[in-house]
Amino acid sequence: VLSIDEVDAVDDLRAVAQLFAAIWRTSPEDAPVSSDLLKALAHTGGYVAAAWRDGDLVGASVGLLANDEGRLGLHSHISGVAPEAQGSGVGYALKLHQRAWALERGMRRITWTFDPLVRRNAWFNLVKLGAVGVAYHRNFYGSMQDGINRHDESDRCSIAWDVASERAAAAAAGHLREPDVTTLLDEGAIAVLTEAQDGSPVTAVSHADRRLCWVPADIVALRAADPDRARDWRRALRDTLGQALDDGLVATAATRSGWYVLETAHA
Ligand SMILES: CC(C)(COP(=O)(O)OP(=O)(O)OC[C@H]1O[C@@H](n2cnc3c(N)ncnc32)[C@H](O)[C@@H]1OP(=O)(O)O)[C@@H](O)C(=O)NCCC(=O)NCCS
Repeated sequence: VLSIDEVDAVDDLRAVAQLFAAIWRTSPEDAPVSSDLLKALAHTGGYVAAAWRDGDLVGASVGLLANDEGRLGLHSHISGVAPEAQGSGVGYALKLHQRAWALERGMRRITWTFDPLVRRNAWFNLVKLGAVGVAYHRNFYGSMQDGINRHDESDRCSIAWDVASERAAAAAAGHLREPDVTTLLDEGAIAVLTEAQDGSPVTAVSHADRRLCWVPADIVALRAADPDRARDWRRALRDTLGQALDDGLVATAATRSGWYVLETAHA
């Protein structure tokens, strides 16, 4: 049985901090968040929630109260699931808990950033949750030393999740579908990032109001196996997805096969 609750007790907060250090494979000193900071966040009305399966801590999510155009909003800072529990619905359940928490408090929007090279997270954010990608930040946190990011520059995409929207409700009901890329291409979308035969990125410049970008299947593995190739992909995504978001397009969808759809906000 999976249960998700807000946490405030120091022992639980310590366990959450340790879980994040284990997921991001850092030393205890370089843990992504300290239990003291978690305590402060929980104490000041922030979001600190943990997922327990049969009594074991299997995931956690932490968000900061944020200024959403003068209203109270939530910025989700970190969400993680224990490696052995990944892919079994814990992350999705945590995000739905976070959405319900925000709706109860009258919030309109949850924001977060994610590494847009991580294909599975793109699908998760844009299609399973119904959020959209709204901005691109070059080297957001500086170079990162943990075992997932491996010293690469930390480009991030900002996500906006309008929790009360029809789109978010449809996603929560499992009704959002991935787009059909062939149809989009037939209708004039331009692919600005694709893969060459040898696995390197190929970029194109376009001012089209619907663009597609493709990302590799597993960037975390690629960073470990071939860091130079992984860096080439980051730079290529910066020049294409980053450019599209700078041009005012929004990432509205992604496919499991690695495509992002970028289009004008009203499209
Ligand atoms: C990303 C993460 C929070 C998702 O939680 P999860 O419990 O593994 O995912 P769920 O089982 O709820 O599935 C939700 C979707 O996430 C996607 N996903 C992302 N990462 C995944 C992973 N490592 N394993 C399986 N699915 C993953 C899947 O596409 C899945 O959609 P699907 O079921 O339609 O295929 C979790 O895998 C994780 O902690 N990964 C490492 C850290 C990280 O990248 N955190 C996010 C950035 S702060």
